[in-house]
Order: sequence, then C-alpha cells, then structure tokens
Amino acid sequence: MKKSLFITFEGLDKVGKSTQVENLVKYLKSKNLDIILVREPGSTEISEQIRNILLDKNNAGKISPMTELLLYNAARAQLVDDIIRPALDRGEIVISDRFYDSTTAYQGYGRGIDIELIRSVNMAATGNLIPDLTVLMSVGPLEETINNHERFQSSSSDDRLERESLEFRERVRAGFLEIAQKEPERFLVVNAEDTIGNVAATITARVDRLLQSN
Ligand code: TMP
Repeated sequence: MKKSLFITFEGLDKVGKSTQVENLVKYLKSKNLDIILVREPGSTEISEQIRNILLDKNNAGKISPMTELLLYNAARAQLVDDIIRPALDRGEIVISDRFYDSTTAYQGYGRGIDIELIRSVNMAATGNLIPDLTVLMSVGPLEETINNHERFQSSSSDDRLERESLEFRERVRAGFLEIAQKEPERFLVVNAEDTIGNVAATITARVDRLLQSN
C-alpha cells in the first residue's frame, strides 16, 4: 500500500519558488512516483475563478482583508475537496505551490487579521489537513535583499506605493519565519539567495528522507 505525502512550498513572490517546485516534481517523476501538482489560489475550475477575482489588477485595493481571507480559503476548500484529499487517499504525492501558511503570512502578518482567527478559518477550509513537509524559501531583510538581487526590484515609479508595499512584504517575510519557527518539524527553511542547485539539493535530500521513512 502506497503512503501519501503532502508537500507545500511557501515564500514571498519572486524568490524562485516555482523553479524549485518544478525541480522537485521532475526529481520525483524520475523515480517513477505519481505526482499531483497544484497551485494556490487555483487548480480547480472554481478555484481559478476565485483566483481571477483575487489577482485582477482592477480589484487592487478594493478587496477588504476579511474578504481576502475568505476568498483564499474558499478557493482552498474547493481544491482540497476536489483534488488534494482524493489524491492523498489514493496514496499519491501532492505538491502545492502555496497553501494555508500563505494566508497566515499575507492576511495575518501582512494585513493584520488576528492569527488565531486565521488558523480557525484555515482549518475549517482544509478539514484540518496539515502538510507533511513545508518548504519555506526564505530571504533576509528585504531592503538588503532588494539591493542585492535585481529580480526583487519593482518597476513601479510611485514611491509611496512602493514604500507601503515594501513594508507589507517585510511583515510577510518576517511572518513566514515566525510561522516556521513555531513548527520546526514540519518546516524546511531554505536560503532562497543560495544557488538554484544548492537549494534543490537541500530540498531533495529532505524529501528523500521523508520517502524512506514512509
Ligand atoms: P502566485 O501565484 O504568484 O504565488 O500569486 C499568488 C499571490 O496571492 C501572492 O502574491 C500571494 C498571495 N496569496 C495570499 O495573499 N494569500 C494566500 O492565502 C495565498 C495562497 C496567496
């Protein structure tokens, strides 16, 4: 009987998360394992429709923090019910590009919604589904990181918006680290500023260990 595995990836935008997700999928497929890859918000018809509302530029600044919390979790509930839970029940490996830690980091630490409330909503949406492993792609304090890496630099010319966005992202960055520190067993925190190859090797080594213990 195959044992399921649920792996999630987290981190700020532009830290190279998708590259590492793709790499892990390729690695596991090369071992002839069945992989289901999903992303949040999205990956079901309904969840992609909700994604469009959330990420539509015309809606920027109009969606209230509570609406955001509920919409991200609405998309998540559908994804868990339609794809993630059934795959895990079949003993497959599911990899998700973001999961509920993003809500805690962005809507909680970023937007300021009470963390305990977020926890309750996250758990209700997922039916208490907890990932076996969460890879956090972490970077140092943002001001420094932005100076060191061109990919973090925004093309926006509005200084006020840029400043606000920097402060928001800094809260999210620190929030992710705090979340990881509270659950060290579940989290693998990797240095996203390291080379793609080194980061990939760290992740595959940890996943190999998980597979062996499975
Ligand atoms: P992405 O597909 O590029 O990762 O974009 C998703 C965006 O949505 C990203 O900026 C993070 C944000 N987000 C939240 O604010 N809360 C959430 O719960 C999730 C899943 C994503």
